[in-house]
Amino acid sequence: MTTISTGSAIVIGLGTMGAGIAEVFAREGWRVYGIDRDQAALDRGHQILASSTDRAVAKGKLSPSDRDALLARISVHTDLDDASEVDLVVEAAVEDVQTKRDIFADLGARFGAEVILATNTSSLSVTEIASAAAHPERVVGLHFFNPAPVQQLVEIVTTVHTADTVSEQIGSIVDQLGKVAIQCGDRAGFVVNRLLVGYLNRAIRLLQDGFASRDEIDQVMVTSAGYPMGPFELCDLVGLDVVLAVVEQIWSETRDRIDAPAPLLRQLVAAGRLGRKSGLGFGTATEPDPSAQVNRARRRETRVDELPGALVLPYLNEALRMVESGYASCDDIDTGMQLGCRMPGPFDLIAEIGVVPVLTAQQMIFAETAEPAHRPCHLLEQLAAADDPAAALAALRRPRRDSPARPTSGKVV
Ligand SMILES: NC(=O)c1ccc[n+]([C@@H]2O[C@H](COP(=O)([O-])OP(=O)(O)OC[C@H]3O[C@@H](n4cnc5c(N)ncnc54)[C@H](O)[C@@H]3O)[C@@H](O)[C@H]2O)c1
Repeated sequence: MTTISTGSAIVIGLGTMGAGIAEVFAREGWRVYGIDRDQAALDRGHQILASSTDRAVAKGKLSPSDRDALLARISVHTDLDDASEVDLVVEAAVEDVQTKRDIFADLGARFGAEVILATNTSSLSVTEIASAAAHPERVVGLHFFNPAPVQQLVEIVTTVHTADTVSEQIGSIVDQLGKVAIQCGDRAGFVVNRLLVGYLNRAIRLLQDGFASRDEIDQVMVTSAGYPMGPFELCDLVGLDVVLAVVEQIWSETRDRIDAPAPLLRQLVAAGRLGRKSGLGFGTATEPDPSAQVNRARRRETRVDELPGALVLPYLNEALRMVESGYASCDDIDTGMQLGCRMPGPFDLIAEIGVVPVLTAQQMIFAETAEPAHRPCHLLEQLAAADDPAAALAALRRPRRDSPARPTSGKVV
């Protein structure tokens, strides 16, 4: 395997993510070509870079001379012909599959098979994007989180095409950038958004079905479950349109009824209530609870005591399913949820609650809802049937590869 240390990279799309990714590479000494469609977009990208690096200087995280050197390593262009001799291309253009496929078809024709091509898509199929390129075996998903210069986590997404050498090389590049990589296959939402957005969609469904009010759910997830913020506050921060787009991707892949977008989510997006960016989404305690607005005849009888189990247990079951199918490791899932959204690692939680109580509670949810997707996964049943379920879980969690020490918290995206 050839290890690429400091090299040259192209970043396509100098928006929020692309500018941040360009900064990450340039900070570690990479020569970066930033590409966007027109001069106005390049100016915007330049502005994002200038503000971000100025902030780092103001916080004492970067010296003024290092900032100048960093910015000097980035050049911006509208023409890909200006870039040559690169080791890696990271695409961070708009989240539209045809745009990305066009870009990868062009990249595949321009660059030799030794150049790694990565997409920063958050919800599209990496396989579909890779399939547009010549030599799709050198294409991976490289999912940075926002803001890229600050967030430590990067999801590396491999497809049926991806060569092992490419996933190893990209893993060592992410290490060299000082980021923490987790690896998974190509399913909608990858690891972090699959688990996070599934949880958010469930919370919205419980709200709309009158299980509890917005404020009750938000509050209980912070006070009892120890989450950094409630699901509705988080939806408002992320953007309801972004949450809906990921839920739709997951739903289109699984067709499990529990993954269908909650109607209330669709209604709020259709009403232009997108969260903080539009001024209002689910709202806070001073604003009306949207579930009371849409269900005006509802009886006010809630089941707050059954929270947070109703929200957290399916999250644990889904994480176990990921491990059962070999999609991702326990360690990578825990790392992803902790660093990506400051949620407790599901396997830490299972260890804390106990395998058998988790199984019993999930069996009750399955019995009550009769939803096939809530059936306790076989792996959970197997762990519970072991002579020592805690030891069986510990064995399952043992890392299969060397992984960097895992900090206990990150920042919500
Ligand atoms: N914003 C986030 O929180 C976030 C987080 C992780 C991943 N992502 C993903 O990163 C990608 C970019 O998201 P963003 O938030 O930075 O979007 P953005 O709208 O801020 O930036 C997109 C940029 O791509 C440019 N662009 C569009 N088509 C292009 C083309 N054909 N060639 C070159 N440039 C082109 C646009 O001019 C724009 O500057 C998306 O795939 C998104 O899903 C976003």
